[in-house]
Amino acid sequence: MYLEEIRLVNFRNYRHETLSFSSGINVFIGDNAQGKTNLLEAVHVLSTSRSHRTSSDKDLVLWGEDEGSVLGTAYASGIRHQVSIKYRIGAGKSVEINGKRVRRSSELTSVLATVVFSPEDLQIVKGSPELRRRFLDSQLIQVSAAYRHAYREYTKALQHRNMMLRTYGPRLKRSGSDVVVWDRQITDHGSKLIFLRHKAVRQLQRLGDDTYRTVAGGTERLNLAYLSTVTDRDEDDEEAIKEDFLSALERTFEESIARGITVVGPHRDDLAITINGKDTRSFASQGQQRTAVLAMKMAMLQFVEECLGDIPVLLLDDVMSELDEKRRKYLLSVVSDRVQTFITTTSPDIGNTISDSSAVYRIEGGRATRC
Ligand SMILES: Nc1ncnc2c1ncn2[C@@H]1O[C@H](COP(=O)(O)OP(=O)(O)O)[C@@H](O)[C@H]1O
Ligand SMILES: [Mg+2]
Repeated sequence: MYLEEIRLVNFRNYRHETLSFSSGINVFIGDNAQGKTNLLEAVHVLSTSRSHRTSSDKDLVLWGEDEGSVLGTAYASGIRHQVSIKYRIGAGKSVEINGKRVRRSSELTSVLATVVFSPEDLQIVKGSPELRRRFLDSQLIQVSAAYRHAYREYTKALQHRNMMLRTYGPRLKRSGSDVVVWDRQITDHGSKLIFLRHKAVRQLQRLGDDTYRTVAGGTERLNLAYLSTVTDRDEDDEEAIKEDFLSALERTFEESIARGITVVGPHRDDLAITINGKDTRSFASQGQQRTAVLAMKMAMLQFVEECLGDIPVLLLDDVMSELDEKRRKYLLSVVSDRVQTFITTTSPDIGNTISDSSAVYRIEGGRATRC
């Protein structure tokens, strides 16, 4: 997949800008707060109709304007598509591919899929489980319709259950009440989420371990394992997961009432990341942690490629400066020519390390000038 051209109108700090890209590496160089990340965000918007850093569409429109848009020309499996995302403040957004209205963001993903890697991602290893769940969710939602559906329904059912727990408190009885109905919804969709996450993690484990060994160059092994709060199984048996989940809900019912939240389920699960069997959170050096995140992101890129049958676009936001020479070289060698990559950086020297076919833009105050 690749993005050939992008056109921004009243998007973030860009009033009118058209940029054409290389199918290889594209670099945005500029000082802080000039609009580099805004450009990556615009590419992300084309792939999902959403920002990767704000949930509020109105942030995306140039201040003082009522509407803003991102238009793109993208190639997927050699076929050209025109993608258009228009935001109107207070009136929602319109999303079109080749002039036809699109209802599901997955249609965008099949034309242009993206994987983002930014400095905050270094927290995936060190930070809270939520970050590791999001690492899985954000991409699985893009590539799997089944996952997206289960995710939406699960979230809805969980909200209803939690509301009942809080509204009725200790007066709530599980049997014969609506809780049972929501529990069924929760376990139906939740077991699907757990099942699909397990499957994804097995793939990511294989891909990530390979990358880790290539970058680290030693005998260290990266291991990823899905850690569920409701089941110890990792076999391909969704029904068994569902049974375990249901008993976990029963078992924790009193505690859930006391705390006013559902204390087990995929919204509480985690991803265990270990190097040679040791937890990376407490035992890994900063270098090992960085290599682990790099390996996981590269694994995700290949995972998305395997799911879609086409290579997604890679968005690297300010990560080059976070990586040392060895890791930077590795990253560029993986992406070179094969993966369309967008890199933002404040350091102009990156221009020397990339090939002539790359497109380099200087970004200043919401204007992009090709170098
Ligand atoms: N909706 C908006 N309208 C106008 N300017 C915006 C909007 N949203 C953000 N900005 C401006 O964009 C700039 C930040 O751009 P960003 O791409 O994050 O910078 P960087 O080059 O450091 O990555 C800031 O100057 C901010 O004030
Ligand atoms: Mg930035």
